[in-house]
Amino acid sequence: MYLAVLGRQSEISVAELETLFDDVKKKNDFLASFDSDSAPNIDKLGGSLKLAEKLDMKPLEYLTELPEGKITVGVSDYSKKASRKTASMEALKLKKILVRYGRSVRVVENKEAVLSTATSLHNGLSGKNERKVELIKVDNDWYKVIGVQDIDAYAKRDQARPARDAKVGMLPPKLAQILINLCGPLKPVSTILDPFCGTGVVLQEALLMGYHAYGTDLNEKMIEYSDKNLRWLSEKDFFLGHFGGYDRELGRSARDDGPERPVSQKKCTFSLSQGDATSFQWKQPIDAVACEGYLGKPMSKIPTEMTLKEQKQECSAIVLGFLKNLAGQIKNDTPVVIAVPAWLREDGTYSRLNILDEIDKLGYNVNNKSREGLIYCREKQIVARDILILRKK
Ligand SMILES: C[S@@+](CC[C@H](N)C(=O)[O-])C[C@H]1O[C@@H](n2cnc3c(N)ncnc32)[C@H](O)[C@@H]1O
Repeated sequence: MYLAVLGRQSEISVAELETLFDDVKKKNDFLASFDSDSAPNIDKLGGSLKLAEKLDMKPLEYLTELPEGKITVGVSDYSKKASRKTASMEALKLKKILVRYGRSVRVVENKEAVLSTATSLHNGLSGKNERKVELIKVDNDWYKVIGVQDIDAYAKRDQARPARDAKVGMLPPKLAQILINLCGPLKPVSTILDPFCGTGVVLQEALLMGYHAYGTDLNEKMIEYSDKNLRWLSEKDFFLGHFGGYDRELGRSARDDGPERPVSQKKCTFSLSQGDATSFQWKQPIDAVACEGYLGKPMSKIPTEMTLKEQKQECSAIVLGFLKNLAGQIKNDTPVVIAVPAWLREDGTYSRLNILDEIDKLGYNVNNKSREGLIYCREKQIVARDILILRKK
């Protein structure tokens, strides 16, 4: 059994796990357990901060069996009555016995009951070094961490991109990964379409996850930005060995390399075209659609009723126009995950687009567990993103 330490927006993190793994059970706002046949890869999950595997022995037994040499150990305590003190005491107790057994041990200091992602990562407790270990305690159960979200890698591929535009908003790469994952398990080297690609964050993450990326946008300048960013990505030494270069206008791509090539060697390509999502004719194949749609005007304060009405009308027309146009161009069962805007109200809740019934009539199932929506926002953010998980009927 595996354990995920959930991101701040825990409902969204759980939805991501549910699409990819079996038997997902949310334990509380911080943790969920799940099953997987193979070891899950944290680098492909936007919504989980850490992944851990249940220990089938006592933690001390596990630590004494580690290969020779100095051990670094950290403890995160998620038990009901956990505190900085309970976590530190567990860690020091383990150290004391290990030292008695003649092992050299360093304990990573707890500032709270649980170690932050940054502390785990920067102390090398990410599961890659077998003598640097983070243990998670949940009441009487113990887990060992097998992956920590690489916040440095996310920051690098977010902030170092050559073409950025504050006006279109900055989709966090983590959220782009979540949107792609919410499409469900996809076959290797599927083609992912983003018809509102902007500066190309979804396309970038699709490529890094081993998919072909196809982006269109109304604004030619955005296509240039995406082009610049994705070329930059292809020259960088990120974690992909499968990147096959770019293809500005969809046409020849490495996907035509021939069926005899093993999937692991298929090269991912990207393609870009200028086009209005409400009328554009996309090239095939389209295996999944993941995007952040038009979010309306950027806002720094809560909108008046009048502005809210105008914005809702404008954004609804674009998203419904897009879904209508898309419906005739994708196969049944194609996943479509789209982030649409939701606006902060005085009472702290979000006002959403009232479009789910229309979407149903356009030929899509709304697969969100509840019709309440999955709202992704920073604290007090005026325009939040409401994630809709759709599938063509
Ligand atoms: C919120 S931004 C998306 C940002 C993008 N996720 C990124 O990584 O930069 C919305 C994008 O939708 C585009 N857009 C607005 N109306 C459109 C339409 N009718 N068809 C296609 N694109 C449109 C805008 O030009 C803008 O780039």
